Amino acid sequence: MKLQSFVFVTTLAFSAAGWAQNPIVIKFSHVTTIDTPKGKGALKFKELAEAATKGRVKVEVYPNSQLYKDKEELEALQMGAVQMLAPSLSKFGPLGVKEFEVYDIPYILPSKAALQRVNEGPVGKALLKKLEPKGIVGLAYWDNGFKDMTSNKPMVKPSDFRGQKMRIQSSKVLDAQMRALGANPQVLAFSEVYQGMQTGVVDGSENTPSNIYTQKMHEVQKYLTVSDHGYIGYAVIANKKFWEGLPPDIRTALDGAMREATVYANQIAQQENDAALEGIRKAGKTQVRVLTAQEKAEWKKALLPVQATVAPRVGKALIDSFNKEAAAADAAAKTAMK
Ligand code: LMR
Repeated sequence: MKLQSFVFVTTLAFSAAGWAQNPIVIKFSHVTTIDTPKGKGALKFKELAEAATKGRVKVEVYPNSQLYKDKEELEALQMGAVQMLAPSLSKFGPLGVKEFEVYDIPYILPSKAALQRVNEGPVGKALLKKLEPKGIVGLAYWDNGFKDMTSNKPMVKPSDFRGQKMRIQSSKVLDAQMRALGANPQVLAFSEVYQGMQTGVVDGSENTPSNIYTQKMHEVQKYLTVSDHGYIGYAVIANKKFWEGLPPDIRTALDGAMREATVYANQIAQQENDAALEGIRKAGKTQVRVLTAQEKAEWKKALLPVQATVAPRVGKALIDSFNKEAAAADAAAKTAMK
């Protein structure tokens, strides 16, 4: 081997070994278990990101509030103690980005099609941009699903919530929603909900079947009402300084991995929730009741005033744009059915 090519080959070998020993580490913290839509999405991103960067990036996923609880994880991201998170859209209020709480308005997004129009269109993109002054970059939206109510008391009519202590995420819109039902909302971190239910700190809560099942909430809740009254989804986010400081080729590879992981996460979300609801039914500890169309209409009527109550907080124009996208999705679905 000529000296020049020897130097070239050994340099390459050394730098490859260097990367392998000293990869860029991305700590990705989140609060659900690994067998949820978010948990599986995070692991898929890890797999794709490590393959696309040929080991130059190592993604360490910390699930189930192992590192941080709801509020702490956002602080940790801003300080750079972790590099990536995927908090629920209901948890950005305490950070000062309260517009995301528009997603919490009951029944505002009636279908996944409406949701997709919002997230992938200008409205969703503009919302992610609002994170940048906080030192955070928004990478994608990941789906979980529609929420149901659980409690130790039956919940059929809106008046059944009167006086019930209901756990909520840290969103003022969810607070308004529970108050509209006559319930007493109480903010608890996700990791504290099971114990809160077990000890009677709260009577009930709202969540997606996948979150209820994987946290075993159904073991400490007697009733579940399938109401689909709201939505849980995630903004996948990164520390802005870290993300923008990555070598350009690495960032391009990670962007590609994120796009693929997003398609995967959004594809599996519904089936994960369907399987979880089935699991809850089979466990036999919780009585599952699906609202009839007429009951749902009553819930919608009771919850409609929430839109006006929270308009000064999240912005009337933003609420209008959500309603517009929902109407357009509905019209498209009707045309497709003809
Ligand atoms: C909750 O706190 O109920 C959810 O946001 C948890 C999650 O991340 O899905």
